[in-house]
Amino acid sequence: MAKFNDIKGFIFDLDGVITDTARFHTQAWHQLADKVGAPWSQELEDNLKGVSRMDSLEMILNAGGLSNNYSDEEKEQLATEKNTNYLALVDQMTPDDILPGIKDFLDSLKANHYAIALASASKNGPRVLGKLELTDYFPTIVDPATLSKGKPDPEIYIKGAEALNLQPEQCIGIEDAAAGVEAINGAGETSVGIGSAKLLHEADIIFPTTKDLTLANIQKAMG
Ligand code: BG6
Ligand code: MG
Repeated sequence: MAKFNDIKGFIFDLDGVITDTARFHTQAWHQLADKVGAPWSQELEDNLKGVSRMDSLEMILNAGGLSNNYSDEEKEQLATEKNTNYLALVDQMTPDDILPGIKDFLDSLKANHYAIALASASKNGPRVLGKLELTDYFPTIVDPATLSKGKPDPEIYIKGAEALNLQPEQCIGIEDAAAGVEAINGAGETSVGIGSAKLLHEADIIFPTTKDLTLANIQKAMG
C-alpha cells in the first residue's frame, strides 16, 4: 500500500458513498425487472452496484435470458423508463440525505488542501450533488460519457487522477461496490471500501460505514 504522506488526492464514488442513492437505483431496477419478468436476487442487486446504466440493464435481462427479446431501441426505452423513476426519487433529496460523516470528511480534506474528484458511473452525478448542495466540493468530475469502459475497468479512476494532475499512487479512491474497488485497484490507487468486508474484501482498507471515514482512521490503516 502507498504511504499516507504521499497521498495528495481523494477520488469519490457517489452512489452509496456520498449518499444512499444505491437504494434508489435498486428500487428502480427492481421495478423494471418485475415489469420485464426477470428474476431478482441479492446477488444481482450487489453486482449491479457501480455498473453503468446500459450494462445494468443487460445484466438484468440476462438474468432472465431475455436480452434477445428486445431491440437496441427498446432497451434504450427501458433504460429511460428506469431513469425517470430513479430521478423522481432523487428529486426529493435534500442535504439531509448526505451520509453521516461525509460532510465533515470533505471539510477536513479541503482544510488540509487535498485535491477532490468525483468518479461516478452515473450520468446524474451533477444533479445528485446539486440536490445535496455539495457541488462546490467537486470542481473535478470525470464525465462517464467519455469512458470507453465502465467499472470494474480502471479507466474512470485513471482519468480521475489525471484530471487532478496526480499519479495514481498519490490518490485514494472510495467505493461501496466490488466493481468500484476493482477499478481503483486496477488504476494503481489505494482503495477504501465502505460496507461489508465480505463483498469488499479486495479493498486495501475497509470501513463498515461512512462515519468511520476520517483522515485519522485512514492514516492509522495505512500504517
Ligand atoms: C453508479 C451506480 O454510480 O451509476 C449504478 O452505482 C448506476 O447503480 C450507475 O447504474 C449509472 O447511473 P445513472 O444515474 O447514469 O443511470
Ligand atoms: Mg457506489
